[in-house]
Amino acid sequence: MKPTDLRGILQYVPRFRERTFIIAVDGAIVTDENFANILLDIAVLRSLNIRVVLVHGASAQIQALAEAQHVVASDLDGAGITDAGTLQLALTAANRLTHEILEGLSASDQRAACTNAVIAHPLGIIQGLDHLYTGKVERVDVEFLQTLLKEGIVPVVPPLGFDGDGRTYRVNSDSVAVELAKALGALKLIFITTREGLFCNDKLIHQMLVADLNQLLDKNQLPPELQSKARHAAAACNAGIPRVHIINGQVDEGLLAEVFSNEGIGTLIYANEYQQIRRAMKKDIRSILALTKGSVATEELVKRTRATIEKQLEDYYLFEIDRNPVACVALHPYPEAGKAELAFLYVSPSHENQGIGRKMIQFTENKARELGVGELIALSTQAFTYFQSKAGFSEGTPEDLPPGRREKYEQSGRKSKVLVKKLTRPA
Ligand SMILES: CC(C)(COP(=O)(O)OP(=O)(O)OC[C@H]1O[C@@H](n2cnc3c(N)ncnc32)[C@H](O)[C@@H]1OP(=O)(O)O)[C@@H](O)C(=O)NCCC(=O)NCCS
Repeated sequence: MKPTDLRGILQYVPRFRERTFIIAVDGAIVTDENFANILLDIAVLRSLNIRVVLVHGASAQIQALAEAQHVVASDLDGAGITDAGTLQLALTAANRLTHEILEGLSASDQRAACTNAVIAHPLGIIQGLDHLYTGKVERVDVEFLQTLLKEGIVPVVPPLGFDGDGRTYRVNSDSVAVELAKALGALKLIFITTREGLFCNDKLIHQMLVADLNQLLDKNQLPPELQSKARHAAAACNAGIPRVHIINGQVDEGLLAEVFSNEGIGTLIYANEYQQIRRAMKKDIRSILALTKGSVATEELVKRTRATIEKQLEDYYLFEIDRNPVACVALHPYPEAGKAELAFLYVSPSHENQGIGRKMIQFTENKARELGVGELIALSTQAFTYFQSKAGFSEGTPEDLPPGRREKYEQSGRKSKVLVKKLTRPA
């Protein structure tokens, strides 16, 4: 490993430290030869003080057991009907897999514990069909899991739920993972599967806003075999988990590459953290001018008239708190150059240092990506170190500006610094 790789990781560490990642592994991956590498990657996460909960499925093993015993399982993934025989197969398969995970974690000196933290009730009778021993997650024993996590122990959660009367139910591991992520306020939910990620029209989705995934699901535009993962990823994000990843567990270093690089290897579904940001409307022009007046006076921002703003009104966005605009930004696209300019970023002094500036920048980055733009540029006279140290821009030259924009830049005589950021996917 190159020392520069470590430097790259460093930017993520403060954000991830003491936060919880739920890692949901399909049964087929637990018995894959790459699983030992995944456990090593988990040991790396643990060494950075990231709290890890490991959930596993058992479908592939239930199927194999059923074949070996010449019986037919009534359901494989805990979503259909689980009869008594299939529950027995699920118990054998899940216990075997949990044991393999505990063994593997021991090999990398990780303390781990198999838990009964998922409290389940019968899924019940749906459209006249009794689902028998299929359960649904009723509640998660958060206190129990937090106690383990605080002690540096990795909880291992099988796809089984327990009720207060000592009965066991087969539960779907993806839904367990979502419920755990919600209950523990996880920062990330990572599904490790046998596929590269989610696909739409045969193309891998590298990243997608949850709102767009919701639409794909509504319109039934995902292949049937990916529906369950997609639905669970969307459910987690809709419930406030900021990032859900779906990756292929057969790729060496896949987990670390996904967590610690901008490009990732699979699919990233991300929640809208930008609900307070909206496009400006005509009636907002007065507030924008009033908001930025002081900054124009001190030459932090270039003066813009009502007419110039109105002409490009669709480029302007506002950040509101209790319906009051407290920040603004503009995104001017230059499609012919494959670039866009982030401009007129302003946060009112009463709301500075709360991360609003960074949110506005991330928001414009996402918008620019949606426009298919590969590079974002910004000009600044007094906040250039902010763009560099807080938002990952680097110093460019006037040559980085699209031709027409460069002309205006030369004419203005402001000698602003040119800042450039290549757009990969959100971290
Ligand atoms: C620059 C500006 C957008 C930052 O907004 P913000 O919401 O306060 O910023 P964040 O909360 O995201 O980040 C705060 C951090 O940035 C630093 N920072 C703020 N302004 C800075 C500046 N001009 N130069 C360098 N660093 C700056 C803060 O010290 C703080 O650092 P810390 O996290 O290490 O404590 C805001 O101060 C502003 O509107 N400035 C005037 C307008 C301007 O210059 N716009 C840019 C031209 S497009």
